[in-house]
Amino acid sequence: DKGNHRHFMAKEIHEQPEVVSHTLTSFIDMVGETIRLPEDLPFDWKDLNRLTISACGTASFASMIAKYWFERYARLPVEVDIASEFRYREAPLDKGGLSIFVSQSGETADTLAALRYCKEQGQHTLAVVNVPTSTIAREAEVMVRTLAGPEIGVASTKAFTCQLAALAGLAIGAGKARGTLSAAEESELVHALIEAPRLMAEALRLEHEIETFSRDLAKASDVLYLGRGTSYPLSLEGALKLKEISYIHAEGYAAGELKHGPIALIDETMPVVVIAPFDAIFEKTVSNMQEVAARGGRIILITDAKGAEAAAMATLKTIVLPEMPAVVTPIVYSVPIQLLAYHTAVIIGTDVDQPRNLAKSVTVE
Ligand code: M6R
Repeated sequence: DKGNHRHFMAKEIHEQPEVVSHTLTSFIDMVGETIRLPEDLPFDWKDLNRLTISACGTASFASMIAKYWFERYARLPVEVDIASEFRYREAPLDKGGLSIFVSQSGETADTLAALRYCKEQGQHTLAVVNVPTSTIAREAEVMVRTLAGPEIGVASTKAFTCQLAALAGLAIGAGKARGTLSAAEESELVHALIEAPRLMAEALRLEHEIETFSRDLAKASDVLYLGRGTSYPLSLEGALKLKEISYIHAEGYAAGELKHGPIALIDETMPVVVIAPFDAIFEKTVSNMQEVAARGGRIILITDAKGAEAAAMATLKTIVLPEMPAVVTPIVYSVPIQLLAYHTAVIIGTDVDQPRNLAKSVTVE
């Protein structure tokens, strides 16, 4: 049932404040503002030297964002791998280490094969899954659920933001358990996470404005997405979302990589979506954006009020989100990224929920 929406994807984008809130309440103690990690874990966070995360597609971008969180909050080195590469690489793994698998369906063949490989290598295994009866959920030692509810649209939206919520919780919980976060820092981060659903609802209110920017994207044959820090994997996700449903060629890049190649692509016909909350690395991203502007690139900047003011340039179109703590920016900035892709595809007239050549669950390799 699509409710009042034209497509499942639109419905699922709009459900996000609610389902992210469900997911958060499943592991947050709202009164104490602490993270409740899964009980009876077969490993101790303090004993871990590194983490390995495997996933495919959108789930791999959620995993890349989680890398920033586990490294920052739990001071754990993280290796994120695309499951189809990991499964054949014969990666050396420490016995008793922890491998995490992220999957909406829990049936993705490559992610399942990566899980089985890790088990054979004596790894502890933890799966972040949306379908609790799935094969990956059953075969992993520990299951952490995302409570996105059934996701029908082939392009993942609400499963992605729920994966981010769950992974943020795990990283903060791991940081607390390892003593790399104080109780005060934990409660500050948890407090920020609790605000995410409200901030997502505010972002959804910008839909009409975002739709007008989509008209610009719909005319393009190529689109570049740029970001730094956690906005870098989000730029990969933005590009994937656009190409999946609108069939427009899109690339995500770490903004700092621009001058190492992709800047050659920039001309007046090339829209560039820049994801840049006003944070510690904002200035760096803005200087990359100026390089784009100097070559006539058409920029859509997704930022907050401070960022919009600091970046002010004539050529710019801006989507201005509320200011928010860094830990929630990937969750909230997903909303305009998804809406841009969705409205672009609707304008072009592609089959948004069932894009050509794609299956919801990739059970063959
Ligand atoms: O079910 P999974 O999360 O394991 O699926 C992984 C990918 O196949 C999936 O995220 C795919 O990239 C989506 N179509 C992205 O929108």
